[in-house]
Amino acid sequence: MNDQFIFFCVNIGNEALLKEEVSAFYPELTLSYSRKGFLTFKNKGIKYDYETISQLSITFATRVGLCLGKAWPDDLNSTVKNKFQEIGLSLSECMIHNYSVNTEYSYDAVSEFGVPVNKYSADGKLVLNLIALSEKEVWFGVHRVASDITRYPNSRVEIDIPDSSPSAAYRKIAETAELFSLKFSERDSWLDFGCSPGGATSFLLSTGAKVWGIDTADIDESLLAHKNFKFIKASVQDLSHEKLPDGAIDWVHVDLNLNPKQAIKEVLRLCKKYNRTLKGVVFTVQVVKMEYIKSIEDFEDTFYDWGFFTMISRQVPSHKKEYVLIAQRGIRR
Ligand SMILES: C[S@@+](CC[C@H](N)C(=O)[O-])C[C@H]1O[C@@H](n2cnc3c(N)ncnc32)[C@H](O)[C@@H]1O
Repeated sequence: MNDQFIFFCVNIGNEALLKEEVSAFYPELTLSYSRKGFLTFKNKGIKYDYETISQLSITFATRVGLCLGKAWPDDLNSTVKNKFQEIGLSLSECMIHNYSVNTEYSYDAVSEFGVPVNKYSADGKLVLNLIALSEKEVWFGVHRVASDITRYPNSRVEIDIPDSSPSAAYRKIAETAELFSLKFSERDSWLDFGCSPGGATSFLLSTGAKVWGIDTADIDESLLAHKNFKFIKASVQDLSHEKLPDGAIDWVHVDLNLNPKQAIKEVLRLCKKYNRTLKGVVFTVQVVKMEYIKSIEDFEDTFYDWGFFTMISRQVPSHKKEYVLIAQRGIRR
């Protein structure tokens, strides 16, 4: 049987985190090729196909697919067609996501393939990924979009940060909401733990929601004046239910510079007050130590134990040494 290879795109600089995750959770995959932002692994275990490859859930991958090969740009179209013929796939079944990783070079897939590219790929779509690593090297692979698989090419989604946002953390939550289709409403009320200086809070306020921000550090003054915002200056460890708002809370956002185990414990202790209304927690896990990679599932299990059933642990493009754990009470989409 032919060897099978799987490709992973990763945020530049986080290749070691992805390798660590693969070795911890998918030891049957062995590293084959590694460049900044792009890696392939040989699969020595049970084979995936393009229908099942999206079941491979990797927190630090912004895109995962079956790797079908690579070619020089001039040869790519014919190489892809030959490969598709060999494996019984038709190009007309696929939409194309064409992107570059760590290079200024951009492959002109629209001219070469004569179809529109980089459209939003809805659930169930088969996607041909064309991944340019240089003007000499374009890799290609396929995946079928399934739940929790982001719909944008390599998870790259356009976010405009307003000049008024106090920090770039606006982008992290905005990308998370868009990539995982989180439905936030202007009727929602949020707790934002670790809110200072206020980037995420300013995104949440932009949805029309009410926000109670908690932090030991000062928050940007423009937010203090916002009619839908209240600031609680305190450390999470010192907070009690009495110091938190009495009305319904729908969502909790957490972005604390605190070890994740302790932060999860404190936040879930405080969330108990909102057991009846809480829809979910959007929790940034700071991966300050490599050993936290092995705890990805343990962190999710802690949320399961507290009655959250739908879990996504994933890195979004603006994340550095961190990822988002989205724990929701509802059933998976
Ligand atoms: C990454 S920053 C948060 C960025 C913020 N979410 C934004 O959008 O601008 C982490 C924050 O956690 C806060 N923090 C760290 N430990 C804390 C604790 N024990 N209690 C409350 N806040 C804490 C820090 O003061 C800091 O403002």
